[in-house]
Amino acid sequence: MAFKYSFILLALCIGYCSAQAGLIPIDAPFNADTFCKQISRDGNYPFPNDCSKFASCTGDIATFQSCSADLFYNPASDNCVFQKDVECLHRIAENVCYKAKDSGFGHFTIPRSGTLRQLTLQHKSGFVSCDASNSAAESFWGCGLGFRSVQMATVVTRQNNTLLFPFFALGTDGYYGLARTDFRSRTLTLYNFDGEIQITKGEKIRIWHGEDLVNQGEEGNNSGEHCVDVWAVLKRE
Ligand SMILES: *[C@@H]1O[C@H](CO)[C@@H](O)[C@H](O)[C@H]1NC(C)=O
Ligand SMILES: *[C@@H]1O[C@H](CO)[C@@H](O)[C@H](O)[C@H]1NC(C)=O
Repeated sequence: MAFKYSFILLALCIGYCSAQAGLIPIDAPFNADTFCKQISRDGNYPFPNDCSKFASCTGDIATFQSCSADLFYNPASDNCVFQKDVECLHRIAENVCYKAKDSGFGHFTIPRSGTLRQLTLQHKSGFVSCDASNSAAESFWGCGLGFRSVQMATVVTRQNNTLLFPFFALGTDGYYGLARTDFRSRTLTLYNFDGEIQITKGEKIRIWHGEDLVNQGEEGNNSGEHCVDVWAVLKRE
């Protein structure tokens, strides 16, 4: 059973992750009665999963508005801009399930070519565990034992198993650490800091438990199956 503490890259996330704060929580229900109640301040907010729309909140009242054709709403400048000038978070796959052992990766298909800047995995159901005999080991993203934020092991690779996310090297045990996310967070957001991951329409991308990917014989105790929706910022060139 591996829950050694892996190398942590907290500092890198701190500046960059806060710059992403314009994205509203993707768990929020998308209806006019509840939308603005999730948000504490009046203003315009990106509409979940449709970047051509935005919502205006005044108190608890939402009005939904659309940008004109071919434009996307840009929360940073609070206006509609050309699509190439904004990073838009779309849901690109639903209910992708992966297991914690026996090459039990899940996969999804890339819907259009571009630069992959961010992936957000949203918990739907299930769990993965690093110790089948201990219910405390159940987690959404790795191992439920030990210090929460370094027990992350959900990783994303290409079809040839080269690592896409996290963007830094995994620990030899298949684990990594993240700031502001832990193994019970409902979403796992992974950023590509150099912005250079080119991805092609039709590519099959894999979601793994890290211990299953590095396959050092420690996965034998693992168990569970975890299902997620996949959201991505796929920037057009
Ligand atoms: C399974 O977990 C138990 C208890 O943590 C441990 O003693 C054992 O070595 C583990 N087995 C494997 C194959 O990892
Ligand atoms: C894996 O695939 C990517 C993209 O198709 C390619 O750039 C990379 O060289 C491949 N890596 C290996 C080890 O085959």
